[in-house]
Amino acid sequence: MNKIIERQDLATSLKKFVVEAPMIARRAQPGQFVMLRVHEQGERIPLTIADFDRERGTITLVAQEVGRTTRLLGRLNEGDYILDLLGPLGEPTAHPEGKNAVCIGGGVGIAPVYPEAKELHQKGYNVTSIIGARTSELLFFEEEMAAVSNELFVATDDGSKGHHGFVTDILQKLIDEGRPIDFVIAVGPIPMMKAVADLTRKYGIKTIVSLNSMMVDGTGMCGGCRVTVGGEVKFTCVDGPSFDAHLLDFDEQMRRLCMYREQEKMSEVDE
Ligand code: FAD
Ligand code: FES
Ligand code: MG
Repeated sequence: MNKIIERQDLATSLKKFVVEAPMIARRAQPGQFVMLRVHEQGERIPLTIADFDRERGTITLVAQEVGRTTRLLGRLNEGDYILDLLGPLGEPTAHPEGKNAVCIGGGVGIAPVYPEAKELHQKGYNVTSIIGARTSELLFFEEEMAAVSNELFVATDDGSKGHHGFVTDILQKLIDEGRPIDFVIAVGPIPMMKAVADLTRKYGIKTIVSLNSMMVDGTGMCGGCRVTVGGEVKFTCVDGPSFDAHLLDFDEQMRRLCMYREQEKMSEVDE
């Protein structure tokens, strides 16, 4: 049982939780995630460790309510307990060579990119960050990202804040301006990560993305999170979730994420 010691509504369907988890906080590194269960009969779902405080023994989770389990989680308040948290799972993100990094977060992907930018910034990298969302309402961690970036750009699809358009427009502009970029870390919806990968491939800029594959156990046993990377089969939960974007089969990922749509719809009936 892990106690929720802070809860914040970042947007209507976007919740931030600070949870007591000293053992996980002690070992957590950017890129890693936890598997959590909200109740005894419930499924386990993966959520990124969006921040951690080793002294306080806490981790931060940001959950977007998209279905049954994330909505049940969203109903929990300060003082409530999450039934169990397993982690930290996955491999910490390995950084390519060079000191000039661009960190891109799209939608709820801003949460996983934050600890990446924070770590790089602490290590003295030159960090340029780009965050984007459909609309300004869904943007979060703006101040947090600004604090760990040398420069921060914002984009919204509807133009309600920052650049009217996509994060890739800003990345293209930075490239056109001749800014030094050694590598890009991008986390967000698959179409966004694919668009970033297509752009950086043209310029030979190393790119790391973090996959949100369908997971069941999170420990390499079930094969649910299978991905193809450079023609090889990998498991997102133990080999990832971060992978070289230029070697990934994004189309396969897109198909696999939609595999259980019928069952997910059915599970909402008795909510
Ligand atoms: P459902 O109605 O069951 O599903 C809605 C959609 O969520 C599905 O179509 C599918 O795309 C996805 N999904 C469903 N079940 C799973 C599952 N077991 N594993 C993975 N995806 C699933 N979401 C966040 O809001 N914040 C995060 O920080 C975050 N980090 C993630 C880190 C990793 C490594 C992975 C793999 C996923 C992460 N996700 C994160 C996605 C999150 O796990 C899903 O949104 C959640 O499982 C949906 O569950 P549900 O029952 O509410 O929705
Ligand atoms: Fe089962 Fe990765 S979630 S193998
Ligand atoms: Mg579900």
